[in-house]
Amino acid sequence: MDGYVKIARKDQLKSSSGVSVNVEGEEVAVFQIDGDILAVRNTCPHQHFQLLHQGELDGHAVTCPMHGWKFDLQTGRGIANSGNLRTYAVKVIGDDVWVERPEE
Ligand code: FES
Repeated sequence: MDGYVKIARKDQLKSSSGVSVNVEGEEVAVFQIDGDILAVRNTCPHQHFQLLHQGELDGHAVTCPMHGWKFDLQTGRGIANSGNLRTYAVKVIGDDVWVERPEE
């Protein structure tokens, strides 16, 4: 599928938690929340740690485990902090999860 990379089968993603996936050299955090699959760049804009996939979830928001910056995973916007995350489009086709190529 043009513009997308297959990253996992849907059953490999745990509910209400995140994983880090290397997508063509870019670390992408992928979350399954209430049946939605959301993908963002796994690099916190604060001090650039790549640990957002381990962050605590609150609905569709994740809190960076390093210093507590919080982001809306649907929009990438920071919540009460200035930085934003790049979001990636996700498609589920059959059992496969595809993420938008980072350079697109
Ligand atoms: S690196 Fe994420 S809050 Fe500091």
